[in-house]
Amino acid sequence: MNSVKSLAESPDLLRIPSIYTYSVNSTESPASDLQNAIPTIDFALLTSADPDLRSQVIQELDIACKDWGFFQVINHGVPESLMGMVIEKSVEFFDMSDEEKKEFEEKGVLDPIRYGTSFNSQKDEIFYWRDFLKVIVHPEFNCPNKPLGFREVLLEYSKRTREVVKGLLNGISTSLGLDPSYVEKTWKLESGLQVFVVNLYPPCPQPELAIGLPPHSDHGLLTLLINNGVDGLQIKLKGKWVNVNNNLPNSFLVNTADQLQILSNRKYQSVEHRATLNSAVTRLSVVVVNGPALDAVVEPAHTLVTKERCPSAYIPMKYEEYLKMQQGNRIVGKTCLDKVRL
Ligand code: OGA
Ligand code: NI
Repeated sequence: MNSVKSLAESPDLLRIPSIYTYSVNSTESPASDLQNAIPTIDFALLTSADPDLRSQVIQELDIACKDWGFFQVINHGVPESLMGMVIEKSVEFFDMSDEEKKEFEEKGVLDPIRYGTSFNSQKDEIFYWRDFLKVIVHPEFNCPNKPLGFREVLLEYSKRTREVVKGLLNGISTSLGLDPSYVEKTWKLESGLQVFVVNLYPPCPQPELAIGLPPHSDHGLLTLLINNGVDGLQIKLKGKWVNVNNNLPNSFLVNTADQLQILSNRKYQSVEHRATLNSAVTRLSVVVVNGPALDAVVEPAHTLVTKERCPSAYIPMKYEEYLKMQQGNRIVGKTCLDKVRL
């Protein structure tokens, strides 16, 4: 495997190899900043003893999911030190030699541990300026046996972030007018899939000619993201790209994903996003994708299939099938979702 990291470290690299050339649609307006307006959800209020505070934060969640698909979560209870350790261990993983990382190279889409480059290097025609590590951490916990201490940190992080996701999904079920435990029970979150992803975007000599990750939406229900303090994430809001600059310290950036769009029958649409590059420093992001159980059949909640919303209903499909379809192909915006539309 030819990692971007080793390519970027080669001396005298002034231009990107042509396989990395990615042309942005020239009719697109440049990305703008909107940082201050990104909704913030105070997680602690979801379990507040005060019903008024609870219903207020549920309403905020509703707006965040409906109008943005993207929000930051504070007071989530995951210790700052743990978040720091996760970034630290992830850096250590990529700092290992190519030789050491080789044993984790990906063999298939549902491989529990996959170290790789680009998105799907077997299928990609254009390569993305990104190396990654993907680890399935739930329902079975996996972890590379290196670097030292990674396992303990990752196990704890997986547990703590699942609690956050459960709390958010209970709130979201409520804001959809469903029973608070609807998503948790129907999609069997207890055995839900959780994938830990580290994205490494080394400095790129021609950052405007390449891309870290092209526009896409995530599979799963909710994605949690933290990074090493370097910006680069953009989301698409009302057809325009917006920079998501460094989030509040100690917070999670959360985005709504494809299975939430399906179950809400499009009320909460998954948000398209992409990762851009810079020429100065390495950006590292740690992403946790949280989905239903692999054998859960995902379809819109029946109460949300109304007369007006019926035409947009989706074909019921096992999450596992969806996952294979999305991960086993090239990544093209939200086209994967279109394949399950009725
Ligand atoms: C992803 C993703 C964005 C980022 O891993 O699915 O969208 O900023 N990452 O790294
Ligand atoms: Ni993503």
